Amino acid sequence: MKSFIGTGLFVVIGLAAALMIGFYPAFTRTPAVFDDEQSGMSREIVIKFSHVVAENTPKGLAASEFARLVQEKTNGRVKVEVYPNGVLYTEPNEQEALLRGSVQMIAPSFSNISGMSPPWIVMDLPYAFLSNEAVKEAFAGDIGAALFDKLKSRGIIGMAFWGNGFKQMTSNVGPMVHPADFKGQRFRILPSRAIEEYFRLMDARTFPIPFNDTYRNLEQGTVDGEENSISNIYSKKFYQVQKYMTLSNHGYLGYAVLMNKTFWDKLPEELHAPILEAMKEATVFANETAIAINEKQLAEIRSMSGIRIHEQTPEERREWMEAMDPAYNRLEPIVGAELIGKIRELQRKYGK
Ligand code: LMR
Repeated sequence: MKSFIGTGLFVVIGLAAALMIGFYPAFTRTPAVFDDEQSGMSREIVIKFSHVVAENTPKGLAASEFARLVQEKTNGRVKVEVYPNGVLYTEPNEQEALLRGSVQMIAPSFSNISGMSPPWIVMDLPYAFLSNEAVKEAFAGDIGAALFDKLKSRGIIGMAFWGNGFKQMTSNVGPMVHPADFKGQRFRILPSRAIEEYFRLMDARTFPIPFNDTYRNLEQGTVDGEENSISNIYSKKFYQVQKYMTLSNHGYLGYAVLMNKTFWDKLPEELHAPILEAMKEATVFANETAIAINEKQLAEIRSMSGIRIHEQTPEERREWMEAMDPAYNRLEPIVGAELIGKIRELQRKYGK
């Protein structure tokens, strides 16, 4: 026993000495915020901004606009390097990359954030938003604030909400007019308990697949359909491998622009204001252009592809809403009664 304690003490003292003499700097070093390149001659600070969509989409364009504005407003002291199309990181690992500081900014869809913070599925509830005004109100009001609050303790700052647009259904099986048309179909979805739930309520099966693998899965027939904004259906050419589309606006695809908090806190104080200003302007740009892009690209899909488009009637919308509505009660334990109540308020205000 004595010799056991003796050996233990020896190891502890040895380790302490090693720390003091040799390892000390390594143990106390705060995580590197600026790498060598960043503190080099030009003293340019680089913000790596990674996302998964194409450059000609609302998010892609807004990210480029943000980069331009930051360059301008910081007189070139800060450079935002935008990595689109998942070239750097895709959804399963972009959040880890943000947390460990391999990138400083990402803009995942709400569904993707729900893996880290489950109440975010509130944004995926079926027909939660019945107009663009409702979306705007959610972003700017209590709902947006409550959601960003949930990320603080994870070391993430919510910089802004960027909208893309309402989600539409596409499939190869047949026209999707009534809830019964979904029976037995296999849908690619974003990873979200809410989305899973409303497809289940329509007797469809769901498969969470990364965005940039979706085209291949549709083409090979591993899944029958998917749901997305027009800009994503257009930019990733899903319309080429899908025969039917229903303009249902049953969900909303939006993004939270997230920043690594350690990085932000270590930025020279005087750079905060111009970056925030750039984000504010890029956000106005994002939310204004998103609507126009989706409209324009829908017109292009109509004119150049053979996909059969069904526009949901108000009567059909009521049917879908009724079929999907039990998702609200079922998901209340995850979302919380307060947030569900706020979405219900918005629905009442904007038309339900
Ligand atoms: C999707 O995976 O369908 C979207 O989240 C992609 C995106 O970021 O718009």
